[in-house]
Amino acid sequence: MTMRFPEGFLWGVSTSSYQIEGGAPDDGRGRSIWDTFCATPGKVANGDTGQVACDHYHRYREDLDLLRDLGAKVYRFSVMWPRVIPDGGGMVNPKGLDFYDRIVDGLLERGMRAWPCLYHWDLPQTLQDRGGWANRDIAGWFAEYAAVVARRIGDRVENWVTFNEPSVSAWVGYEEGRHAPGLTDPRAAVRAAHHLNLAHGRAVSVLRSLTPKAGIGTVIPIHKARPLPQFKERDGHLAALFEDKWNGVFLDPIYRGRYPASLEARFSEHVRDGDLAEIHRPIDFLGVNHYFPSYVQPSVKGAWPFEFADPPLFFRRTETNWAIDGQAFYEALLIVKERCGNPPVYVTENGGAFIDVVGPDGRVDDQDRIAYYREYLAGLQRAISEGADVRGFMPWSLIDNFEWAVGYEKRFGLVHVDYRTLRRTPKASFDFMRKVIAANALPRV
Ligand code: FCB
Repeated sequence: MTMRFPEGFLWGVSTSSYQIEGGAPDDGRGRSIWDTFCATPGKVANGDTGQVACDHYHRYREDLDLLRDLGAKVYRFSVMWPRVIPDGGGMVNPKGLDFYDRIVDGLLERGMRAWPCLYHWDLPQTLQDRGGWANRDIAGWFAEYAAVVARRIGDRVENWVTFNEPSVSAWVGYEEGRHAPGLTDPRAAVRAAHHLNLAHGRAVSVLRSLTPKAGIGTVIPIHKARPLPQFKERDGHLAALFEDKWNGVFLDPIYRGRYPASLEARFSEHVRDGDLAEIHRPIDFLGVNHYFPSYVQPSVKGAWPFEFADPPLFFRRTETNWAIDGQAFYEALLIVKERCGNPPVYVTENGGAFIDVVGPDGRVDDQDRIAYYREYLAGLQRAISEGADVRGFMPWSLIDNFEWAVGYEKRFGLVHVDYRTLRRTPKASFDFMRKVIAANALPRV
């Protein structure tokens, strides 16, 4: 007995530029805010950096072969803005564009389709020096960059993704300071959130006019927020506010043309006439990332009356201490259905970090990761059976990579990377996913 996915369900894989490319000084690539952040003592575990990463910049052919062997039909990779325009604006670096051109052709040659994402967090440092996302001018800079990329590879792109997780850029980069640029300025974070939305809207119109045949979407991590079980009554309103902050701020302007009512006062000083109409432009799909349930508890410390709470102890956890809960994934997909009017959805990221032991035969038997995917894919099937318009799934990630502030220690790949030799070895989860894709079904245990 198997549990089948709908006919035509689209399987792919996601990666991101800074996390895998390396090739930092090569061919005129400029600096990004993650280069700066990694060079700041104490910000990233073990002082790890993305200078070499998985050396995908030089080994991309091998990685594209792995994608093909997995059976992926589409590949969501990201374009590194400072590789293409080293200073963020002005001079374009042809060699940087050549690299993404090779990726797109390499995909097509192997029978796969390209889903480039224009921003997966590696902002040119020069633009950060001018205020980064807190500077309203960035909407224009981003639109220019989108046009440069579209002119070069747009003829072969199936779907564009404008942003990966703009909520994390704003709230973790500008408010919590755990990600680049490492600011802890709540007002700047709200401004950044609005400018990320505005930049998305402006890029949509540029991409529509330059590449009318390509689809366009964005990627938002969807949180299912819950009060701790013992404080259900007391903290229910905090869970709703949490979802407004993390989901609504980025979904509502696109799908409803406004900010959540609970947050309008915070946003009004940054929103100008016409902004919301620009953001409210139709898109073709929503990319949903999801990893863990979000528990909330009251807080009096910061700019918000809540903070993340430690999830109840009955959950199993991944190595990044994220609670494993396929039910929250199902609920997150229903949140999108309700909140956004059931748009076409592709799950663009999902996965877990686990301790991967390389056996004497060189194999990694990552049964924990397989169990994780079984649970989450079952949650996904349940959401589909209840009418959520989910059309595809992309595990995070193809290969182990640089996991931001926690560095290389936490491994999310279907393929193991030995960081001394850069050798790639498919894990047991790679075989599992290959079978799921080939059968378009989840085999029963
Ligand atoms: C997501 C990021 C992705 C990766 C996973 C584990 O938030 O988009 O780059 O780090 O988490």
